[in-house]
Amino acid sequence: MPFPDDRLAAAARHALDLAWAKAGATAPNPPVGCVLLDSAGDILAGAAHERAGAAHAEAAAIALCREAGTLDRARSAVVTLEPCSHVGRTPPCVEALLATGIELVLVGAHDPHPRGPGRGLRILRDAGRHVLPFSALRHPEAGDLAGFAARLIQPFACAVNRGRPFVTVKTALTAQGSMIPPPGVRTFTSPASLDHAHALRRRADAILTGSGCILADDPAFTVRRVPDHPGKRRILAVLDRRRRVPDAWFERARERGLEPRRYDSLETAMHDLGAAGALEVLVEAGPSLRRAVLESGLWDEDIIFQQAAAIDAPDAVRIVRRDGLAPLSFPSFTTSEAVECPSN
Ligand SMILES: NC(=O)c1ccc[n+]([C@@H]2O[C@H](COP(=O)([O-])OP(=O)(O)OC[C@H]3O[C@@H](n4cnc5c(N)ncnc54)[C@H](OP(=O)(O)O)[C@@H]3O)[C@@H](O)[C@H]2O)c1
Repeated sequence: MPFPDDRLAAAARHALDLAWAKAGATAPNPPVGCVLLDSAGDILAGAAHERAGAAHAEAAAIALCREAGTLDRARSAVVTLEPCSHVGRTPPCVEALLATGIELVLVGAHDPHPRGPGRGLRILRDAGRHVLPFSALRHPEAGDLAGFAARLIQPFACAVNRGRPFVTVKTALTAQGSMIPPPGVRTFTSPASLDHAHALRRRADAILTGSGCILADDPAFTVRRVPDHPGKRRILAVLDRRRRVPDAWFERARERGLEPRRYDSLETAMHDLGAAGALEVLVEAGPSLRRAVLESGLWDEDIIFQQAAAIDAPDAVRIVRRDGLAPLSFPSFTTSEAVECPSN
């Protein structure tokens, strides 16, 4: 390409931002972003896959260029996920790309679907197009961009390969290390931590909680501190073997736009949520269910917000990933708190 790799890196960052903004909106499909560039490396269009049934990111970006009359200038496509080669609800993106003058396709992550990772890339290469991974960019952020693309596709990879959603456990601790709020309050972490917690809800397709949490705190489980995806309806899985949560509570949750379901077992709940097409589940529960989830092995990410000991000091955020992948904190999802990311 006659332009430096930092233009491609900037386009990759933009494509990841577009995709990340749709995390939580696209299930059972993954969030994907695509940016098209001209021969000078200038961005012509960028688009994301909006929701299942809508155009894939590549087709949406191509459509934007077509509308703007710039499609004949498109020479590079930067896509966060390998373009699809199969006919689903929409035509294959590989064909849409091959119908343009695009010469280079820069790809963030392989398609983890068992129907054939790498197939779309092989078709593009066989048709004479250059195909490169984000990691091949000669740019200091290349590794981070590739890592973020891999993390972005994790919930989808988990759903298609393990048959269960990606599970994030979210916990708040007081400065003294207790999950139990002081008398008379329901939340005790900083406004920044609460914003972060609502952003976690936003990217989830389902929330899993226990009867103890509901009976103690009566949480709304809605996304309020950040804008939610328009029309999003989340499943609220309530573990309540003794039927202590009143039916009227379930009715009120329904009125708040949730889809509440009562379960007797964690395994059944996870299986059911996977079957319903949920890509990501957020566990918001008290100490009993938190422990049960961690002991079950049915989790992927454990995020703990700990209240600061000193007034005005930022809360600490500790993120534990089971697979060692970087947590979703790049490129646009930033927090003022210290983030510790041990991999175990
Ligand atoms: N700091 C935080 O992040 C946070 C978050 C939420 C709640 N809380 C606090 O946690 C306290 C409530 O604690 P909790 O432990 O009772 O709440 P919980 O973990 O949300 O709920 C526990 C209940 O879930 C049900 N359950 C179903 N399957 C289970 C399983 N496999 N393992 C464990 N429980 C299962 C049990 O009721 P059945 O036997 O009837 O099924 C159990 O009594 C409150 O003080 C609340 O404020 C703190």
